[in-house]
Amino acid sequence: MKQTATSVVVDGVALIPLDNPPVNALSASLRQGLQAELEQAFSDKAVRAIILLCAGRTFIAGADITEFGQPWQPPSLPDLCAMLDDAPKPVVAAIHGTALGGGFELALACHYRVAAQSARVGLPEVHLGLLPGAGGTQRVPRIVGAETALEIITSGRQVKAAEALSLGLVDTVVEDAALRDNALAFAHRIVAHGSDKPRVRDRADALSADRDRPELFTAFAAANARRFKGFVAPAAIIEAVKAAVTLPFEQGLAKETDLFERLIASPESAAQRHVFFAEREAARVPDIGPDTAAIDIRSVGVIGAGTMGGGITMNFLNAGIPVTLLETSQEALDRGIATIRRNYEATAVKGRMTAAQVEQRMDLIAPSLDLSSLTDADLIIEAVYESMDVKTGIFASLDRIARQGTILASNTSFLDLNCIAAATSRPEWVVGLHFFSPANVMRLLEVVRGAETSKAVVATAMRLAKRIGKVAVLSGVCDGFIANRLMAPRGAQAEAMMLEDTPIAEIDRVLVDYGFAMGHFQMMDLVGLDVIGRNATERTVMGDLVAVGRLGQKRGAGYYDYDDKRRSRFSDVTGKLIKEVAAARGIASNRTSGDEALLGRLLYPVVNEGAKILEEGIALRASDIDIAAVLGYNWPVYRGGPLFWADQVGLDRIVADMRALEVVHGETFRPAPLLVRLAEAGRRFGDKP
Ligand code: 3HC
Repeated sequence: MKQTATSVVVDGVALIPLDNPPVNALSASLRQGLQAELEQAFSDKAVRAIILLCAGRTFIAGADITEFGQPWQPPSLPDLCAMLDDAPKPVVAAIHGTALGGGFELALACHYRVAAQSARVGLPEVHLGLLPGAGGTQRVPRIVGAETALEIITSGRQVKAAEALSLGLVDTVVEDAALRDNALAFAHRIVAHGSDKPRVRDRADALSADRDRPELFTAFAAANARRFKGFVAPAAIIEAVKAAVTLPFEQGLAKETDLFERLIASPESAAQRHVFFAEREAARVPDIGPDTAAIDIRSVGVIGAGTMGGGITMNFLNAGIPVTLLETSQEALDRGIATIRRNYEATAVKGRMTAAQVEQRMDLIAPSLDLSSLTDADLIIEAVYESMDVKTGIFASLDRIARQGTILASNTSFLDLNCIAAATSRPEWVVGLHFFSPANVMRLLEVVRGAETSKAVVATAMRLAKRIGKVAVLSGVCDGFIANRLMAPRGAQAEAMMLEDTPIAEIDRVLVDYGFAMGHFQMMDLVGLDVIGRNATERTVMGDLVAVGRLGQKRGAGYYDYDDKRRSRFSDVTGKLIKEVAAARGIASNRTSGDEALLGRLLYPVVNEGAKILEEGIALRASDIDIAAVLGYNWPVYRGGPLFWADQVGLDRIVADMRALEVVHGETFRPAPLLVRLAEAGRRFGDKP
């Protein structure tokens, strides 16, 4: 792998090129190469200033995450930053693309930063359960003050060049195409005129006001308590930034290093790093490579302007792809389009979109009541309600009107895609595109590969997902595909425990304590019991609640009663119904108590279902199942997903606990053969096959 090429010297300015595709991560050999080039430039009398310039699509995107967990090879990143701090000649970082994490920290240790107009800088370590470990927590506050530093580092957001300039994080912004020339001109000016700009480490001005406000740190933690819940990195970041304010630079750095070492050894960071790589791994399909021809999607048809259809449409509008939106009545069409407009306008009110952008997106919709208007679309997505008859009818009609080469997709969440495909004469063009509600927000897209779906169609769907900002996970055909099938046992156990007299608030609390945003019953109430509660074959509490008009939060009453601030509280009506349904179904009181017991009951069946999904080949790999849970069901990212979590708990322990549960609760708890085999072999889901 190429790392650094030899520097060139232009009129006394050494240009050190860094080249480690694809994102110039600071691997050991890049660090060694940079160290050697810096030493050379420092000692070369002809060199009066130095520029760090990256090849390829971006400046350095951070430390090389693949090296985490292995012994560090010298020089370390902090060593390099110290070398830059002590540089006898001015060093300029020329930034294009994204200067992230250790990459931005390296740039901050340089004397100057010249950024291309489209560049962004940021410290995204928090997303990996870490803090910036190469001086970021000490240098950024010295430039922007503690409060802004806390906001930037705990959010991990990418700061655009213009904002970075106004904050003082970069010194100048130049045209993209002229970065090298402008950086050279900048360096030559410094050589010619000199500069008395202090090193970042020596600056104290931005921090002087913070020294009198020690309460700002507790206030920041309190104001963000909800967002930080369960994560370990934010508290460490706050501590490190506090050290920047209260301690001399070297001591602050030592504090940062200590906190970084602690975080990197934490299970939360291991889980978040697992999710980072799992997300990227999910895009790989063994029999599809970069050479597999994909279809260029320039226009999309969406059938159904309801909640799902509208959300799906927005994804394409956001990516600038025109959508023909089809409904059966003008009223439904108008309603759907009004909802899309309302969503965009709400975003505009929050300042995240301009009024002009709202109009640009709305202009990309072509409303239609006529199926033949979809004839020329490259991709047609059906998003009507879950009825096999309705869906096969639509696909048979699409087969008649769509031109050859159009991808026909269904958003079905549990129907057999192969039956839907069989309604057409071209099953190789049929694929499942299963979006999660709200479809414009949730990042998961299950791409469902039917028995005959062609490779070109799968390749197109996987690439399209990235274009519209989704993470695609490939699924085979089965009831519920990956995410819904995986999570169904959690709901079944929550309801079983409810009928056995375990308080629903207790069940929900355990899930929230584990890290889910809400518990099972709170989620049902939020979605709406009338929406979920169809197709029950026996008497259920949900069915009874719907029958008495308790439809969920929207009616102020569902499993729980709600006050006008949407806070849930125990409901006598529900309590009585639970007892009645349990009696009618002959279920005796057998309350589960203790957090561990509750959690095992709720989540071990999910792990078990994951093992079955993997063994049946419905998912390509264990980490895809984790991604489906994290992105489709908000499984807490710092737990890494159900199978990563199971590996942490220990598969032998899970098998033993499940066998004990099987004795009491029956075969739902029988451990799946794959789970047993892995446990007996002392292996984990995450081990390479
Ligand atoms: N280390 C190792 N590999 C990395 C990497 C990193 N820091 N960043 C990206 N990669 C790899 C990805 O795994 C992927 O590999 P693959 O092609 O084999 O799957 C490849 O580079 C391309 O990445 P993306 O698919 O994500 O490309 P995008 O163009 O969509 O995004 C990016 C580019 C914005 C740079 C994005 O990759 C990203 O956010 N990377 C992580 C940045 C980060 O977290 N940096 C901080 C690292 S921790 C650190 O610096 C600690 C320090 O403080 C001491």
